Amino acid sequence: NTMRDFLRDLPKCEHHLHLEGTLEPDLLYPLAQRNNIELPEQFPKTVKELEDRYKQFKDLQDFLDFYYIGCEVLLKQEDFFDLAWAYFKRSHSQGLKHAEVFFDPQSHTSRGIAIETVVSGFQKACVKAQQELHISSKLIMCLLRHLPVEDCKATLESSRVLFETQQLHGLGLDSAEKPFPPELFAECYETARTFHPDIQLTAHAGEEGDASYVSNALDLLKASRIDHGVRSTEDPELMARLARDKVMCTVCPLSSVKLQVFQDVRELPLTEFLNAGIPFSLNSDDPAYFGGYILDNYVAVQTRFDWDLATWEKVVRQSIEGSWCDDKRKNELQ
Ligand code: HPA
Ligand code: ZN
Repeated sequence: NTMRDFLRDLPKCEHHLHLEGTLEPDLLYPLAQRNNIELPEQFPKTVKELEDRYKQFKDLQDFLDFYYIGCEVLLKQEDFFDLAWAYFKRSHSQGLKHAEVFFDPQSHTSRGIAIETVVSGFQKACVKAQQELHISSKLIMCLLRHLPVEDCKATLESSRVLFETQQLHGLGLDSAEKPFPPELFAECYETARTFHPDIQLTAHAGEEGDASYVSNALDLLKASRIDHGVRSTEDPELMARLARDKVMCTVCPLSSVKLQVFQDVRELPLTEFLNAGIPFSLNSDDPAYFGGYILDNYVAVQTRFDWDLATWEKVVRQSIEGSWCDDKRKNELQ
């Protein structure tokens, strides 16, 4: 298949990937067993049943209910390592070169796991991915916006040293978007900016929430990147701003269809973004839940948009340019 081969060989960067969202059903059950975790009564009993349930999510919350149960099977440093290493190996076969990946410490610290356990497991996988697969990576810690702000502040304090020592590079904001707007987290982001001069800030906005969530993430959180951002098209002034300030939107095609933000990949505002000059990257979000890793997302886009070589070169160049790695690494990626 020449289209897939062409897309596989493009030097791909992923900027919107939740490590907990890479937990495949065929790893979930063995981990539950290995850690003696009892899954809820109504939870599907087999890999096949779970895969079938993943084929139909009503909305973001319906997905998140499964995602947080999945998190419960992760306990030990090696579980976090195994999870991330499986992601890197699989994505390497799809042409991934650089990954900036999210994790949600609160899903784990709430169960008594130390944040250091989570981070050290992920970090080992990142080191191995660099050494054996030549994939560079950065870790982005996300705050869960559905939890009390006080909880998020405490999590931030517990992560201070990890940012100071640059084991963590970025701060993000995820989980249920709609009743939890960016303004609730302005203080958290202000605190995070004191942790390190090079800390990078992003936030999920404009997936469920309207365009004002995107504007407020820029104004009040001082985010330099927006995760999803697909509802920005509702506000022409915001579109002009995203283009002028070169704010990258990390678009997730298969995710947005699975969560019924759009009925089909062809409805994604990629042509609008290209015409407006807004940089974006294509990402898998939670590949174990949404039916595809990074290359599958590239293929889904090409099947609908039929871009020419020049457009793909532009999209690839913008995703390298918008990455949070240094110029030396960016040059290697070109
Ligand atoms: N949106 C919000 N929160 C999330 C997501 C997402 O796509 N994936 C994991 N947590
Ligand atoms: Zn996401």
